Amino acid sequence: MPQLIAGNWKMHGLTTDAVALARGVAAGAAGLASELLLCPPFVHIAAVAQAVLGTSVLVGGQDCHPAKQGAHTGDISAPMLRDAGASWVILGHSERRQNHGETDELVREKVLAAVAAGLTPIVCVGETSDQRASGEETEVVGWQLAGSLPKPFSGVVAYEPVWAIGTGKTATEQDVAVMHAFIREELERQFGTEGETIPLLYGGSVRPANAGSLLALPHVGGALVGGASLKVDEFLAIARAATV
Ligand code: PGA
Repeated sequence: MPQLIAGNWKMHGLTTDAVALARGVAAGAAGLASELLLCPPFVHIAAVAQAVLGTSVLVGGQDCHPAKQGAHTGDISAPMLRDAGASWVILGHSERRQNHGETDELVREKVLAAVAAGLTPIVCVGETSDQRASGEETEVVGWQLAGSLPKPFSGVVAYEPVWAIGTGKTATEQDVAVMHAFIREELERQFGTEGETIPLLYGGSVRPANAGSLLALPHVGGALVGGASLKVDEFLAIARAATV
């Protein structure tokens, strides 16, 4: 399976920036061994989907509501994302868990809604620096996996240590290797054979300089990229570092 390089644009850019970025990425996507996914802010999804039409670049949202529709001011449903041109969605990102109080249970409901709408979910898990300092990182991630993923689960898991997001502090190769091996084991324990093939991404200060070594680690099936996904050259350099 080709590695997936997903760009999480977070709350950055106006329409012209989004379209220029998407066009730039699409222009460099041909011939790459990896799959590229762009996750712009909601309001830019349709324009980005249009900009990458006819190319291999995929488009996703950064969150969705668990309900199909209803009185939920300011929220966006999974069918709305699909309608706007998305085929993927990031769920349970630590910024949603921290800033919006999202629980594992809510993330699980969102995953079900996403899959029902035809979206492939990327479910994020990861420990805080305090949890790692007290040696609880695997326990925390194990609980997040157990609580956030419905059974069966058809999607992708992204390991994103919270302390490595947007900080420039990348987890060491050793940290990533240990955690990805743990996640694989845990998925196999929780899901049986299905857990052997759920793709795993690493996220947290992935840059062109560290992408090659991170993407070569066992069980790492791609990267979830924040800051570096906002620059065409950097995002494509990361994508070129991907292995088949
Ligand atoms: P970063 O963000 O690459 O800027 O650390 C990663 C993410 O939050 O998905």
